[in-house]
Amino acid sequence: MNRKQFLTGCLTGAVAAGCSAWGYSWLAKPEEHVPRNTVGLQPVKDFNQVETEILYLASLAPSGHNAQPWVITVNSHNHWMIGSDRSRWLPVVDPENRELVLSIGAFCENLAAAANSYGYAAEFNPVGSNGFSTQLVEVCLSKSRENIGSDQALRGRRTIRKQILANPIGDEDLRYLMGSQSDGMTFHPAQSREGIYLRQATLAANEAQLASDAAQAELAEWIRWKAEEAKEHGTGLTPESMEMSGVIRWLAKNFLTKKDVMENTFRKETLKLVREQVENCAGWLLVRSAGQGLASLLQAGRVLEAAWLRAFEKSIAFHPMTQILEEPALKSALAREFEDKNIQFIIRVGYVRQYPQPVSIRLPLDRMIKSSQP
Ligand SMILES: Cc1cc2nc3c(=O)[nH]c(=O)nc-3n(C[C@H](O)[C@H](O)[C@H](O)COP(=O)(O)O)c2cc1C
Repeated sequence: MNRKQFLTGCLTGAVAAGCSAWGYSWLAKPEEHVPRNTVGLQPVKDFNQVETEILYLASLAPSGHNAQPWVITVNSHNHWMIGSDRSRWLPVVDPENRELVLSIGAFCENLAAAANSYGYAAEFNPVGSNGFSTQLVEVCLSKSRENIGSDQALRGRRTIRKQILANPIGDEDLRYLMGSQSDGMTFHPAQSREGIYLRQATLAANEAQLASDAAQAELAEWIRWKAEEAKEHGTGLTPESMEMSGVIRWLAKNFLTKKDVMENTFRKETLKLVREQVENCAGWLLVRSAGQGLASLLQAGRVLEAAWLRAFEKSIAFHPMTQILEEPALKSALAREFEDKNIQFIIRVGYVRQYPQPVSIRLPLDRMIKSSQP
């Protein structure tokens, strides 16, 4: 085994599903916080300070592979259109742009909460015919008299893949998390029949996806091993967001490349990590939509994000594990098992002792905005 193979063997696995339950804690430094890039907060032409802040907070929404598919066109003051950028689609794992629309729904929820924290109400009007439409949602902001909310959860929410506890979620926290019944969410404790099904099927789906060169190659394209790549793209997954720390992170940043993601060692180690992850959680949250059209998917994205922001307040981690929904055979089996074709999110859930700081990178705002002027 040469040095490169050794390093790849040691470092693999910290991908897709995240990482780090493996035995390298002796290598990790205590707690090193790498703050999220703040380039998005720079002034943007034609946007006042409040609009800039609202858009920045909206952009802190989650998205598949952190692709941040949203693009904003300004129609007029406080009147925007949200579409998507084709270069940020994920054609292999998300061929229907289903996850793209869900991510844009999460962006809308953040936008609404951010607007509220500045005393504005946001109204959304789905305009596209499906996830491939150039324009998806029209947004209007108006001065509101509603209570002004806090932006703490928007700034603090993040994906957590590591150190999720298996302790049951308390009844009161669970009621708070689930919101209103009309939100269409269900929670399945890890040891329930449904919880066991979701654990096993998630593992099987990861196994299938790890065997797919196309899915691995797409993932490799969205990993920014080096700080310069992260800065250049402003999107994608970094060693920090994959929760690598200490010496392992340093080694990954300096030695790993896209090619390593395709190696068998890498895939094998990833599967080992996924196995550990699915065995460690309080349970699974399913987010269902009312239908499969654009408006229903946008709404499901909003419901997920609203629950995620509430979870932040209770130190409850959310880890989306979407592989079942990306593998057609497993997706059909899931629909039969739960008698529902409209499950849109599968989230691994559990308390964390301390909610970690967010670290995933974001695009600078001027790269999210497209001028409507010719
Ligand atoms: C539609 C969707 C699908 C996702 N699927 C996964 C997944 O399968 N595995 C995973 O680890 N994270 C998944 N995520 C989380 C994203 O990777 C995460 O939101 C992104 O990297 C930004 O990080 P943040 O949530 O910490 O801001 C998903 C998020 C969304 C919105």
